[in-house]
Amino acid sequence: MDDIPVWSKDHVRMHLPQRQSGSHKGTYGTALLIAGSTGMPGAAVLAAKAAMRSGLGKLVVATARESITPIASHVPEATFEPELMERINDPELDLTSYKAIAIGPGMLPDQKTEAAVEHLLQLGKPLVMDAGALSERTYAKTEAPVILTPHPGEFSRITGVPVEKLQQQRAHHAANCAVKLGVTIVLKGQNTVIAFPDGETYLNATGNSALAKGGTGDTLTGMLLGMLCCHDNWRHAVLNAVHLHGACADEWIKTHSAHTLLAHELTELLPTVMKPYE
Ligand code: APR
Ligand code: MG
Repeated sequence: MDDIPVWSKDHVRMHLPQRQSGSHKGTYGTALLIAGSTGMPGAAVLAAKAAMRSGLGKLVVATARESITPIASHVPEATFEPELMERINDPELDLTSYKAIAIGPGMLPDQKTEAAVEHLLQLGKPLVMDAGALSERTYAKTEAPVILTPHPGEFSRITGVPVEKLQQQRAHHAANCAVKLGVTIVLKGQNTVIAFPDGETYLNATGNSALAKGGTGDTLTGMLLGMLCCHDNWRHAVLNAVHLHGACADEWIKTHSAHTLLAHELTELLPTVMKPYE
């Protein structure tokens, strides 16, 4: 692992985009977040809040109809698409205007999710796939980035590599998988590995054990989605999102116990954590 470069603070400083003075919400684009389910509406809240804080212009959240009112009370800035998954193959449904899409937080890896993923992969838009959207599958070659964000258990589920073996050579396995599938792998955990489809690989050095708590992965998915909208270079968007997500947790433990972080507090820290990088 020694020879794998770290995406450093200086890299983020150099590659974080400025908000342009004459810009408007259309400049940064509309993101689509497909997240949450009847039992897991909170994942959609966490990802939506993080996305809205990460540079996009507008956010549409696609979720279960009964979850919309509670989610909207936490993220009033977002708009909603009810039951999008049920209409995914409806010819009237036009998803081509979205700048980037994320799917999976708070969702189950079932047949309905798989059908939605299949459809989204054909749109040719930057696509983040997390949690329920992760399954053992192959990917057609596309220009648009496909970004998978597995934790070790999910990586093992989609590749068959046992977790113990994976953890001994995280970068090696992440890079192998990225090249083989032609996708970007964000292998989460301490020192998250970011492996691109051409084999280029980075380690992330931010973050700490305060992140070892349910919901922090949903927050990362939202940050990735938002960053994809405001960066011209999608690789920089991925690397910067992972770095800043961890940097928020590092800020937390300067003044708080590592036991106490809640995932949505990463999003609340992001404005002050991100500022010195600009
Ligand atoms: N050091 C640094 N970073 C860490 C550490 C650590 N010790 N532990 C966790 N993290 C980071 C990971 O790198 C990742 O960014 O915290 C985040 C955890 O993400 P997930 O494992 O996806 O957790 P999350 O999805 O929020 O919660 C568990 O995942 O298996 C699914 O649906 C299941 O609800 C469950 C959910
Ligand atoms: Mg997760």
